Amino acid sequence: MTNKMWGGRFSAGPAEIMGEINASIDFDQRLFAQDIAGSLAHCAMLADRDIISKSDAGEIKRGLEQVQSEIEAGSFTFSRGLEDIHMNVEARLAEIIGPAAGRLHTGRSRNDQIATDFKLYVRDVIGLLDDQLAGLQAGFVAQAERHAATIMPGFTHLQSAQPVTFGHHCLAYVEMLARDRGRFEDARRRLNQSPLGAAALAGTSFPIDREQTAKALGFDSPARNSLDAVSDRDFVLETLAAASICAIHLSRFAEEVVIWSSAQFRFISMSDKFSTGSSIMPQKRNPDAAELVRAKAGRIIGALTALMVVMKGLPLAYSKDMQEDKEPAFDALDNLSLAIAAMTGMVEDMEPVADTMRAAAAAGFSTATDLADWLVRVAGLPFRDAHHITGSLVALAEEKRCGLEDLSLADMQSVNKAITEDVFSVLSVESSVASRTSLGGTAPENVLSEAKNWKRALKD
Ligand code: ARG
Repeated sequence: MTNKMWGGRFSAGPAEIMGEINASIDFDQRLFAQDIAGSLAHCAMLADRDIISKSDAGEIKRGLEQVQSEIEAGSFTFSRGLEDIHMNVEARLAEIIGPAAGRLHTGRSRNDQIATDFKLYVRDVIGLLDDQLAGLQAGFVAQAERHAATIMPGFTHLQSAQPVTFGHHCLAYVEMLARDRGRFEDARRRLNQSPLGAAALAGTSFPIDREQTAKALGFDSPARNSLDAVSDRDFVLETLAAASICAIHLSRFAEEVVIWSSAQFRFISMSDKFSTGSSIMPQKRNPDAAELVRAKAGRIIGALTALMVVMKGLPLAYSKDMQEDKEPAFDALDNLSLAIAAMTGMVEDMEPVADTMRAAAAAGFSTATDLADWLVRVAGLPFRDAHHITGSLVALAEEKRCGLEDLSLADMQSVNKAITEDVFSVLSVESSVASRTSLGGTAPENVLSEAKNWKRALKD
C-alpha cells in the first residue's frame, strides 16, 4: 500500500526497514503539544485570511483539541506507518472530522512545521532550565552566607596555594551559573523567530499572514528567509553549546565533591541521601550522585558534537539528516535537567568539616604570600626581593619541620634584619583571609555582602 499522505506518485509501499530508519514517531511524539499549538495558530490564520472556511476551521480546531486530549490521556495510538508526529496528528484529525482535515496543511509543509515545533520545545526547556539554575544558585548562596568565614585551602595546580573561605568558593559557582543562564537566555532570544509559513522551502502562493502565526505562538517575528527558516538548527546547537558549558561547570563541582568527600580530604560530609555503599566493602560511602553528574557532561557534549557533525555538510534547505537532531537534544537536555536537580540536592545537603579544612588551609606555608606582602608594606622592600626572602624563610621552616608562624623572631631576622615581631600578625590563616578585601577577594566581609547581593538578585 502506498502512503496516504504522500504516496500519490508511488505504486508500491516502502520496504519494511524504512519503518525503522525513516519513522521518527517513536521520539518526536514528545512534540505533540507544540505541534498542535502550531496547527491551531496556522488554522486560525487560514480562516482569518479566508484561505479556508470558518466552519472548516472550527471543525479542525475541535478535532485538534480532541487529539490533544487523547494523547494526554494516553489513549492515542501512534503509528510508525505515519512516520512522524505531524502525520499522526493529521491522520487522526481526519478520522475525527473527515475530509476538512485535509485543508489544514494548506500553505505549510512538514519542514516549517518541525522547525516551529522544535523551536517551541527548546524555548520551553530553556525556561525550565533557567528556573532550575536559579534554584542551584540559591543553594550555593545559602552555603556562602552560612560559611562566609569558614576557612579552607584555595588551590592552584591542586596544591594548597592561599587560604580562602568556603563561602567564596561557593560564590564562584554562582558566577559561573549566572553566565550559563545568560547563555541560555541569549539562545532563547535569538531562536525566537517563527519558521511557520516558510512552507517546504520557498514560501507559498497563498496569502498567509506570518506575523499573525508568529505572534500567536509567542515569537518576536517571522524568520525573514524561507530557505533559512526551514534549514536552521542553530537554535539547537546554541542551546546544546550552552548546555555543554553548563554541564562542564556542574562536572567541575562534582569533581570537587568527589575529592572533598574522600577519606584523604574529608572537607565535606554528605548525608546518606546522596551517598551509596559498596556491596563488598562495608566501610564505603561513595559519592555516586556527584560521579554521575560528572559523567553527564560527556553525553551532553557528545550531543553537541553529534549535531554539529550532522549539520556541517548539509546544503540548503531541509534534508532528512536534520531529523537526527532530536534524540541527542532530548537526551542532553533531559540529562542536564537531571544533573542540575541532583547537584542542587547535594549542594543543599553538604556540610563542610571546618576543622579539617582549616588545618589543611594552614599547611604547606599557605601564608607565605602574606609574609612577602608584609615585607613590602612594612619593611618597604620591592616585591621581588620580598618574594626571595620569603622563599628563604620557607626553606628554613622546611628544614626545621615547622610552619612559618612557628619560626622565632631570631630565625626570621637571620634571613632579614628588617623583620619585626609585627610580622606574626599576618601569618595566621584568619588574618590572611581577612586581609583580602580587594574587590572580588575572599575576605569574609566581602563574601557575606556578595552573598547578600546575590540573595536579593535571585529574589527579583
Ligand atoms: N520528521 C521530520 C523531521 O524531524 C519532519 C520533517 C519531514 N519533512 C519531510 N519533507 N520529510 O525532520
